[in-house]
Amino acid sequence: MNNNIQKLHQITNKSERIILGLMSGTSLDGLDLALCKIAESGINTKVELINFETIAFDDDFKKDIQSIFCKEEISLEKLCLMNAHIGLVHSQIINETLAKWNIKNGDVDLIASHGQTIYHSPKSKHQQQKFGNATLQIGDADHIAFNTNIITINDFRQKHIAAGGDGAPLAIYGDYFLLSNKEENRILLNIGGIANFTFLPSSLNIDEVICTDVGAGNTLMDIYIQSHFSRKFYDKNAAIALQGNVNDDLLKALSNHEFFKQPFPKTTGQEIFNLQFIEKALEASNTIDISVYDLMATLNYFTAFIITDSIRKNVQEKECSIYVSGGGVNNPLLMQNIQQLLPNYKTESTNVLGINPDAKEAILFVVLANECICGNDDFYTQSNKNFPPITMGKISLPR
Ligand SMILES: Nc1ncnc2c1ncn2[C@@H]1O[C@H](COP(=O)(O)OP(=O)(O)O)[C@@H](O)[C@H]1O
Ligand SMILES: [Mg+2]
Repeated sequence: MNNNIQKLHQITNKSERIILGLMSGTSLDGLDLALCKIAESGINTKVELINFETIAFDDDFKKDIQSIFCKEEISLEKLCLMNAHIGLVHSQIINETLAKWNIKNGDVDLIASHGQTIYHSPKSKHQQQKFGNATLQIGDADHIAFNTNIITINDFRQKHIAAGGDGAPLAIYGDYFLLSNKEENRILLNIGGIANFTFLPSSLNIDEVICTDVGAGNTLMDIYIQSHFSRKFYDKNAAIALQGNVNDDLLKALSNHEFFKQPFPKTTGQEIFNLQFIEKALEASNTIDISVYDLMATLNYFTAFIITDSIRKNVQEKECSIYVSGGGVNNPLLMQNIQQLLPNYKTESTNVLGINPDAKEAILFVVLANECICGNDDFYTQSNKNFPPITMGKISLPR
């Protein structure tokens, strides 16, 4: 027997596993590393975050990713090179970060690697009859497994699509397992580059759980800042948006996109929410001369609007608490706008649930990796209305 298969078998039998979750979303800000201790599986899963850090990508690496990111036409050679390169860069970051934390690679049972999304094209986006939903994450996991000597579970999204899903968002599984609560209706809202939410009813009824992307999270704000200021990556603490006023004509034009007319649940990416999206709305509303302050105030409000509008259209409960994660939780104006637009629902950071909002997505992939090797809950034999009952992830062995 391959030693690593034997090792994997031993890992499945452990009462607690140590799994390192890796996440790099569409913001391209850096690699999130969440080292977790995890026990049991399915709805009995218990996770404890041991260490967390986001390692920022350097400009050169970011530019290399951007050269193949969300573009209909790219160099095929660059794509091929980047698949291996991202795997290698992630391995280096892992080895350095574990050393910094004084953790030996041998003490980590598994890595859960999301990879870097470079294109996300559900059928609703490409609209080509003969093709189905599709998404592509790169950063080859054999490179990670070999260079860290840690078994690496990866490429989680493909089976979701194979089983009839959109490939995203996958938060529904971890949210349902970890955060369902019979005391209250909950919305887990993640505001990364793209924003998504999971509705968890206090009934715990799987058929009532909803998970969907809402559209842009931070991405429109980030893209505009990056196009306007050569040295800024995002509107830190909404410093720029706070100096402007919302422009109603522009707001209307931004909202007038067919994505918002599509039925829920749905998924999207920067393939739609990009600089052209903003430019088209500026032209359509005759607001090209608007100040950067008013534009950022409008984009900030628009982001809060599409988030709250999607929630309102899907969740009818009178009482519900919203718990926010992802980088957007650090944007005070965005949080204020969301609270104002949904005054009856209390909005807080996932911190109050004991979950670091920056680490949450990486933790959710730790849960998926744990399910990949240990998921044997009744959950997988039940069919349900809203998400395929499957475990996800492929297994890369170090040797
Ligand atoms: N202090 C802050 N003020 C405003 N926005 C912030 C702040 N901190 C983080 N962000 C936003 O969060 C983004 C990163 O969010 P993240 O959850 O990592 O997204 P992704 O999953 O797409 O990588 C940044 O690009 C920025 O837009
Ligand atoms: Mg990020």
